[in-house]
Amino acid sequence: MNIFAHRGASGTYPENTISAFKEASYLPVHGVEFDVHMTADNELVVIHDEKINRTSDGKGYVKDMTLSELKNHDFGSWFSADFAGETIPTLQEVLEVFSSTHHVLNIELKSDIFPYDGMVEKVIELVTAMQMESRVILSSFDHGAIQKAKQLAPSIKTGALFMEVLVNPVDYIRNIPADALHVLFPAAIRPSMQEVFEAGLPVRTFTVNDEKYAKMLEQAGVEAIFTDYPEKMYTILQAK
Ligand code: G3P
Ligand code: CA
Repeated sequence: MNIFAHRGASGTYPENTISAFKEASYLPVHGVEFDVHMTADNELVVIHDEKINRTSDGKGYVKDMTLSELKNHDFGSWFSADFAGETIPTLQEVLEVFSSTHHVLNIELKSDIFPYDGMVEKVIELVTAMQMESRVILSSFDHGAIQKAKQLAPSIKTGALFMEVLVNPVDYIRNIPADALHVLFPAAIRPSMQEVFEAGLPVRTFTVNDEKYAKMLEQAGVEAIFTDYPEKMYTILQAK
């Protein structure tokens, strides 16, 4: 079973920062996951929430601030004084960390809260310019965004995100179309998921920080987990 470092190595470093990504880039795990929003001046930035309140010393919506306004804030101190001065990374800065590593990059498009006009196009343009198409998975709770991504760049893999499993999940995924189903644990082990495993669609599950659950998911046939503790989980799963 593959391991993705969720928001970078976010259990031990401030989530979605260059420090968290550099740490993930040194690990032998399969991939890394991170979240993209768009600024008032249409720049792509990596942050989980639509507001900066929780993970910085500032307040407000990403969509209402320019990149230079956002760069004035500290995105490390909330986690630990050791990370004071961490800034919000752009998507390009994060991709550059992984430019010469083996990692698969799961870019989550956070367009489910605000639509971020032009975001899908901009992400694909950057990934293509950096020649990283074959290493990227685009995922979103906004299934319209991944439908659009598939139309614009059929070779880039996609994953539809769910908090729960739907009725007829295989038909739903194939209709989008998406290449994989990404689902909140514990929905990945519901009986209705059996048809997804039987159809051979990759199932990836978030966020799994517990050894017992990771082993259960591996048994169930889950292709990958997203974890905040990639190094620890790698050691545990290798040791089986
Ligand atoms: O992509 C998997 C997972 O990150 C989705 O949930 O809230 O952590 O972005 P969230
Ligand atoms: Ca995410």
